[in-house]
Amino acid sequence: EKGGYDYFMLKEIAEQPKAVADTLLGRIDLAGNLCLDEVRIPASVLREVSKVVIVACGTAYHAGMIAKYAIEHWTRIPCETELASEFRYRDPILDQRTLVIAISQSGETMDTLMALRHAREQGAKVLAICNTNGSTIPRESDAVLYTHAGPEVAVASTKAFLTQLVACYLVALYLGQVRGTKWGDEILSVIRELSEIATQVEEVLETMEPVRELARTLADKNTVLFLGRHVGFPVALEGALKLKELAYMHAEGFAAGELKHGPIALIEQDVPVVVVVPSPRGRSVLHDKIVSNIQEIRARGARTIVIAERGDETVAPYADHLIEIPATPTLLQPLVATVPLQVFACELATARGNEVDQPRNLAKSVTVE
Ligand code: F6R
Repeated sequence: EKGGYDYFMLKEIAEQPKAVADTLLGRIDLAGNLCLDEVRIPASVLREVSKVVIVACGTAYHAGMIAKYAIEHWTRIPCETELASEFRYRDPILDQRTLVIAISQSGETMDTLMALRHAREQGAKVLAICNTNGSTIPRESDAVLYTHAGPEVAVASTKAFLTQLVACYLVALYLGQVRGTKWGDEILSVIRELSEIATQVEEVLETMEPVRELARTLADKNTVLFLGRHVGFPVALEGALKLKELAYMHAEGFAAGELKHGPIALIEQDVPVVVVVPSPRGRSVLHDKIVSNIQEIRARGARTIVIAERGDETVAPYADHLIEIPATPTLLQPLVATVPLQVFACELATARGNEVDQPRNLAKSVTVE
């Protein structure tokens, strides 16, 4: 049932182009029309939404962090993303005009469930983004948008994460559509690229052998750091989480702009630092800033592993290892930038002799608070 792969995780990483395509299927057309009738929150309610709050845990929380960038940029509705386990204990401000989005692969995560119950008690509307039909979280929500990743067996989430991102992008665009946002050319081209993004995920998968080779050479390291900016920051956090849970290594993700506020003190000779570089088009200011971060850490001895858009000439001179990904619009880059980090963590876990599908101390769904 592993379909010829050694681990479910490898199979699920390979299934990502299909999972992404299936999650988009029938929900978006090339003219940029979103068809999410299945989301049973009336358009009249969505038009009145004054704030979006996203709650989730772990990898799903990282998807939610990325969703915040998309929702605010595309719809101009204020959005915050919060760890579900923290949410209800600080008495958050919620009312009938708050849309709470609960993201959960399993649909059974107790922290997320308790957060959504709290939100509904306060009168907020809850939309679940979930991969498991009929599970508790969608049953207790006002509406659900299912991700179509298919069953995810490996404890570490991979294909569910990519489909959560797709679902978040769809919700953001849908919110814009029902509120009558006039899309400019920028967003129309993002929509076109989103509808074809599975091809790019496939392309990344075809070029992963050097990433596996690199991972094997790092099996005896103690620490790996991850840096990113903008949507690359949650990608860095996700890369670090995968490495912790699978390789049992100390791994930390930082916003690259925070480096100078402390973490740069961690940089020493040969410490591997993975840097997610934003597209040189789009937000080029951020691109240039991250290039100088790479120079700074390299000057202090870091071994730089750089994930950058194919053809980005400016980073190559500072990359000890360059991992190229296809060009995408800035907000969609996590769909391609995360894949090498999944492969990297999986290979490191294998090289360290760990059980890839069943990491120690972890369970696939966490049904206690
Ligand atoms: C990490 C991982 C976990 C889950 C988290 C939420 O690879 O799988 O961090 O993402 O426990 O689980 P769901 O999405 O089922 O609520």
